[in-house]
Parts: sequence; structure tokens; C-alpha cells
Amino acid sequence: MKTAIRSTITVSLIIIGISAILFSNAFARRSSGLRRGGMSESELEKPPVPKDDNEKKILSILADIRSTQSYRNVPPQDGRFFRITAQAMNAKHVVEIGTSTGYSGIWFGMALQKTGGKLTTFEIDAQRAATARANFKRAGMADIITLVEGDAHQEVKKVKDPIDILFLDADKEGYIDYLNKLLPLIRSGGLVIAHNISGRMADPRYMKAITTDPNLETIVRSGVSLTLKK
Ligand SMILES: C[S@@+](CC[C@H](N)C(=O)[O-])C[C@H]1O[C@@H](n2cnc3c(N)ncnc32)[C@H](O)[C@@H]1O
Repeated sequence: MKTAIRSTITVSLIIIGISAILFSNAFARRSSGLRRGGMSESELEKPPVPKDDNEKKILSILADIRSTQSYRNVPPQDGRFFRITAQAMNAKHVVEIGTSTGYSGIWFGMALQKTGGKLTTFEIDAQRAATARANFKRAGMADIITLVEGDAHQEVKKVKDPIDILFLDADKEGYIDYLNKLLPLIRSGGLVIAHNISGRMADPRYMKAITTDPNLETIVRSGVSLTLKK
């Protein structure tokens, strides 16, 4: 009888052990983004390789903002996408609604240092605006970034120059107002990029405006909408 109980316990422990190994492997595969067929996109993509001391300095400032001053900043992969897009478009004027601590602004700034362009960015919160200003200064971008402090719904009326990229990353229900006010200034071939475009967060009025206008072409990927002004 004792032997039967002992062997039942042994078999149960073996089953529990195997299940735990299978579960932890599946979990590890899921959390590392590994698929059965090979590497995931996030594994194929590698961290940026700085070209020179300036890029190295900027990347270390970006890392510092993320670790010590983060406030709802975009993830690094989005920042890299903005930099690539702005530089490839040879953007001369980027407008950002929602500066926060300056993280996404510095990614745009990296591109604009190369294109000879400028960023106009809007922030309503005085403390975050002060932090962003200091970050733009230490990144060596104070001369190409203008931070406008105040309610962007009012302040954007002062923008007069043509826009290559409009990046919306502030109050979600305000996207439609920003679009209506600034779309006339966006050049043909220019982009409107909007953050937090998920089923839960996207404002239906904004989505309707960017998906039904024949002058616009919109795609949504990973919570970011990309709208081309044709
Ligand atoms: C998601 S954060 C921006 C993150 C930033 N783009 C980044 O990735 O580093 C949104 C910011 O928009 C600002 N904001 C919200 N409503 C605003 C308004 N009406 N005018 C200007 N800024 C606003 C908030 O204070 C907040 O700092």
C-alpha cells in the first residue's frame, strides 16, 4: 500500500514538473517575442549604432530621459521611426502637439539637425515644458526647437509656416481640432502622425476625418496612424 502511494506521488511530481517546464518555455517564448519559425521583428531590430559623438551624446540623453524623467513618452521604436521618416522626407518643419519632457521632440530633432529643419512643439504643463527646454538645450537643439507653452488649441493658430510632419500626441479628443486647424498648412506629400490610435483610445471623429477624405491616405500600425496628404 505504502509503495503504491509513493509511486502515485512520484508520478504526480513528474507530471507537475513536466507541465511547469512546458509552461515556462511557452511563457519565455511569448515574452521574448520568439516565434517557432525564427526571430521576431523586435529581435531582428537592434539598438541604434551611433555614427559620431553627437549621435552618441543624443542617444545617451534619450536614455536618461526615459529612465529619470519619463512622462507618457513614446517608446524608442516609435522615436526611431519618427527620426527615419523626418530625415528621409527631408523635413524642414515638424509640428508636435504634446511635448512632455521632450523625448519624441529630440528624436525629431536628430533628423532636423541633418535636414536643416526646425521643430515647433506645444506643451500645456509648465513643469514638463521647463524639463523639455532643459533637455533640448543639453541635446544641442535649443536653436532648432521652439517650445510653445500653453493650450495648443489656442496656440497653434500662431503657426504660419508650411508643415512637413504634424505629430499629434496630446489630448486624444483634441486631435480633430488640431487636424482641422493645421491640415491647410501641411504640404502636399506631408504627413500627419497620431499616437494612441487603438480601438479603445482613438476618437471616432478623428478616425472618420482621416479615413474618409479622398485627399488623405491613412494606415494604422502598432497604435500609430500615418496619414499622407496626397
Ligand atoms: C503623451 S504626452 C506627450 C509625449 C511626448 N510626445 C513624448 O513622446 O515625449 C502628452 C502631453 O500633452 C500635453 N497636453 C495635453 N493637452 C494639451 C493641450 N491642450 N495643449 C498642449 N499640450 C497638451 C500633456 O501635458 C502631456 O505632457
